[in-house]
Amino acid sequence: MSNIEQTLSIIKPDAIERNLQDKIKNEFKNNGFEIAKEKKIHISKQEAEQFYKVHETKPFYNDLCNYLSSGPIIVMALQKNNAVLDNRKLMGATNPKEAEEGTLRKKYGISIDKNSVHGSDSLDNAKIELEFFFKS
Ligand code: CMP
Repeated sequence: MSNIEQTLSIIKPDAIERNLQDKIKNEFKNNGFEIAKEKKIHISKQEAEQFYKVHETKPFYNDLCNYLSSGPIIVMALQKNNAVLDNRKLMGATNPKEAEEGTLRKKYGISIDKNSVHGSDSLDNAKIELEFFFKS
């Protein structure tokens, strides 16, 4: 059965800084994702705080928002069957040290903060996050 979804993906500043964007985009394409929307942006700290609002009570919130606003990022709407879950599988665990072999965070991530990619964790959050960056 077909279950086409879109999920939000972010290529984070550490990956852009190392010029990994084309490699990472190819990983998505080679794994059946269509990049339906894409833009390169540099967000403010306030925008990062809004984006990561669900984490506002976490001890790492301030560093996380400083980091996401520290340099350019690429935001994408990735589309395929079961896009949300499949993107999470492709990314691997949040901490690159715990991510499985072959996953994006294992291959490209440096640390739990500089983990190269973000992906929505549920279909509901995907809708909220896509709306945040690609207001219709
Ligand atoms: P991301 O999927 O973008 O969502 C929130 C981010 O917070 C996460 O990736 C990590 O880069 C970052 N982060 C930093 N410390 C932690 C932590 N202890 N647990 C979870 N996420 C963390």
